[in-house]
Amino acid sequence: METQQARRALGFGLGLRSCHYEAFARDDVDVDWLEIVSENYMVPGGRPLWWLDRIRRDYPMVMHGVSLSIGSTDPLDSQYLRELRALADRVEPAWISDHLCWTGVHGRNLHDLLPLPFTEEALDHVVSRVRKVQDTLGRRILLENVSSYVRFANAALDEWTFLAEVARRADCLILLDVNNVHVSAFNHGFDPVTYVDAMPRDRVRQIHLAGHDHRGDCIIDTHDAPVADPVWSLYEHAIRRLGPVSTMIERDDHIPPLAELVAELDIARSVASRALEGIAA
Ligand SMILES: [Fe+2]
Repeated sequence: METQQARRALGFGLGLRSCHYEAFARDDVDVDWLEIVSENYMVPGGRPLWWLDRIRRDYPMVMHGVSLSIGSTDPLDSQYLRELRALADRVEPAWISDHLCWTGVHGRNLHDLLPLPFTEEALDHVVSRVRKVQDTLGRRILLENVSSYVRFANAALDEWTFLAEVARRADCLILLDVNNVHVSAFNHGFDPVTYVDAMPRDRVRQIHLAGHDHRGDCIIDTHDAPVADPVWSLYEHAIRRLGPVSTMIERDDHIPPLAELVAELDIARSVASRALEGIAA
């Protein structure tokens, strides 16, 4: 069941990366919560789990997976779900998330977050699988919008309509990656504000912010740079519209010292409070 904590905004967090284990264990870092990549800890033992248990004592955590493959036509992986549930029993996360995508088919994992065809058939398929996953895990999950570079010619729905409909019909929650909205909006030529405005307020439980690589004719979602100015603007708009939402910065490559990420998180705090002041005014 969802905890009271999960329904409130947790504040401002970071993704836990192994290069920062020692700093988190040693220092009182100005971070409200941490997101772990679930698969990194779905192992029987070893150092990552040791660090996880140590750091979990001091920080609330959420779990973020990359292997659920909710859109695949392969059967759901029951062993994966059992292990995910076991990790959740250990971590007691405020919530569990994964991506609105598929990562493989015919038993092969392509290790990429691939876009879905936004059709009614795919919608029915994803909704029924989300319901099964939620039944197995005994809780609602969050699904995140992915960045994309191509789309299916037979798409009948906009991505934002598809995501909102999945959430409504499956009764799941949303992890809105504001950078991914910006990246896909540029690559496909839609208005990112339209996307954000289509998100159901009561279902957006978490926001991701990240950096990208603008190559002129397309944007690649690299997670290896500071958050870009247009993404900060879109984030401000999102908070103005959605109210306080737990927000974190994702950095997966060129990871700087922790102090730099904490300083970037302070920008998120000030952008969010400016947006919320705008609501109050
Ligand atoms: Fe993300």
